Amino acid sequence: MFARITGVGGSLPGNPVTNLDLVRRGVDTDDEWIVSRTGIRSRYLADPETSSSDLALEAARSALLSAKTDAAEIDLIIVATSTPDCIFPGTSCLLQAKLGNKGAMAFDVQAVCSGFVYALTIAEKFIRAGGTKKALVVGAEVFSRILDWNDRSTCVLFGDGAGAVVVEASETPGILSSVAYADGAHHAILSVPGNVCGGKVIGDPFLRMDGQAVFRFAVRVLFDAAEKCCANAGISPCDVDWFIPHQANVRIINSTAKKLGIPPERIIVTVDTHGNTSAASIPLALSVAVADGRIQRGQKLLLEGVGGGLTWGAVLLEF
Ligand code: UT7
Repeated sequence: MFARITGVGGSLPGNPVTNLDLVRRGVDTDDEWIVSRTGIRSRYLADPETSSSDLALEAARSALLSAKTDAAEIDLIIVATSTPDCIFPGTSCLLQAKLGNKGAMAFDVQAVCSGFVYALTIAEKFIRAGGTKKALVVGAEVFSRILDWNDRSTCVLFGDGAGAVVVEASETPGILSSVAYADGAHHAILSVPGNVCGGKVIGDPFLRMDGQAVFRFAVRVLFDAAEKCCANAGISPCDVDWFIPHQANVRIINSTAKKLGIPPERIIVTVDTHGNTSAASIPLALSVAVADGRIQRGQKLLLEGVGGGLTWGAVLLEF
């Protein structure tokens, strides 16, 4: 029994906000710096009324439609998010209520930018173990809520959005291999350190990152995870049809792909127009490339992510 993706969907709020728009809003930056250091040209930013579960709902509806599946048939809902609607209940339960599903197991995964890879890996294990037949796996974020707009080294990098897949038990492949790791010793180089206590925010409630340290770590572990994930399935990373990495920085994407021997024409890149949407970035990139016809059924896809924790992982699948 395999776990196979049968539907894909994505959601982006409002209109694109360009680098120049950020300059006009008072961020001390310029288009040339952002494009040359990151590849980002624009991102989408949700209005204050739009939550992660709203974006998740739109992405989930479109994934369900493409899988020709009714929300009532879903028996597992996993939402990967670091920007939940509230402390609890889980954004997964709020999404479940909005979808009108009753009874599915629903929980959130907190693995930051690796969240979707973690969530897909978990869904696969549930399906392969038996019992779960149809899972909805979502990455949804409103990272604009946790950005310090006076910190130009982080606020220009991130955007909001959601991506979703329906994963079903199937006799045909399917997810072929997955790996997931964490090393909490590096927690301080990418974090939102604050918390809520006694009705007050205690400490710093904004995203803080040592960009260069994360960059170095990311290139090393993404290479390693891709090699291990593909080796488990007996193939080489350079044999995949499409590489769909976490969309943080085009320089990280290109140097990882180069080390893996994957040519640029087989990489899906959306960081230029979406920015870094954390857990949403991989399913959003997948949904874009499925919608525009680049990704076709039967092709081998390598998904991989790295993020706060630090966490990282990869999934190899036949689409
Ligand atoms: O999704 C989670 C994973 N996150 C990542 O993968 C992010 C990984 N890191 C990166 O992508 C890169 O390290 C950054 C894009 C964050 C930064 O690029 P960098 O080439 O490492 O730049 P830097 O931090 O070394 O900054 C160089 C200079 C500094 O100026 P000085 O001190 O050299 O005069 C910064 O003040 O660039 C300056 N700078 C900016 N200038 C204009 C930093 N941010 C900006 C900005 N606009 N937005």
